[in-house]
Amino acid sequence: MALVNNNDLMVPARRDGYAVGGFNTSNLEITAAIFQAAAEKRSPVIVATSQSAIKYAGYDNIRAMVDNMSREADIPASLHLDHGTDMEIIKGCIEHGWTSLMIDGSHFPFDENIAATKAVVDLAHPHGISVEAELGRLEGVEDEISVDSKDASMTDPEEAAQFVERTGVDSLAVAIGTSHGAYKFKGEPRLDIERLEKIAALVSIPLVLHGASAVPPEVLELAQRYGADLPGAKGVPAESIRASLKHGVAKVNIDTDLRLAFTGHVRQILTESPKVFDPRKILAAARDGMAEVIKAKMDLFGSAGRV
Ligand code: G3H
Ligand code: 13P
Ligand code: ZN
Repeated sequence: MALVNNNDLMVPARRDGYAVGGFNTSNLEITAAIFQAAAEKRSPVIVATSQSAIKYAGYDNIRAMVDNMSREADIPASLHLDHGTDMEIIKGCIEHGWTSLMIDGSHFPFDENIAATKAVVDLAHPHGISVEAELGRLEGVEDEISVDSKDASMTDPEEAAQFVERTGVDSLAVAIGTSHGAYKFKGEPRLDIERLEKIAALVSIPLVLHGASAVPPEVLELAQRYGADLPGAKGVPAESIRASLKHGVAKVNIDTDLRLAFTGHVRQILTESPKVFDPRKILAAARDGMAEVIKAKMDLFGSAGRV
């Protein structure tokens, strides 16, 4: 079906206590893996593109791929800009048919974040494009950081309520202890679910969990078995994701787990089949490996079977 915006996918998700995966893509195989999984699981899906992914693959190529695959799979999907910071790219996404935008003003002081977010809301809403913003910084929780500075980087519930009220934004990414990449925790993984609960009590729009990859042991182990050098990689446990779904999280962002699966499967086939040099054979293995990871996420997030 034709692309929808994130409100169409996330408002029912928050209401019914599940989340839609926001999966990052930058090429044909990742996009195909996302729709292969979505079609098999009958799950709605958010296809996310960072600014660097757009520079890498091009607006028109991405839009055409996502549009075509969502029609073929007959799955409700949105095309979303992840971590937009550059107004030229934000405007480019509006012109090229993106249905959802994230404005990431989380590095700004509170009032500047509000101003930047409101400016994007005013640009996007007349086109029916939904907007996600971020309040708080996704720095991860390092053991050596003091309690005060941990607290300062996380989302303040009262500020979150004010932020939503003053910006008119559609969804809000919160900082509760996750971070991007494969090294999220030095010690035990810890998310501040109590803080999330307080935010959810004050903010009724759907919430977003960034930096939510799990670094699944079997995915990491495959990559490492074939030579990847990723000591100490650690992600968000499934029980923390389940807890977040109970408190307003309606979009869960995954990039790192797909990168790890891609890397593991490419390394495996190149090592085990040294005579293979057809890119399609190499990349089909990576695509199918990523689709398995995505299907497991759709089950975990509760989005499977919602279409
Ligand atoms: O949150 C960031 C995503 O993982 C995308 O990263 O800018 O390397 O594409 P990227
Ligand atoms: P991960 O690095 O945990 O996959 O997070 C991705 C993300 O938040 C993209 O915005
Ligand atoms: Zn993110």
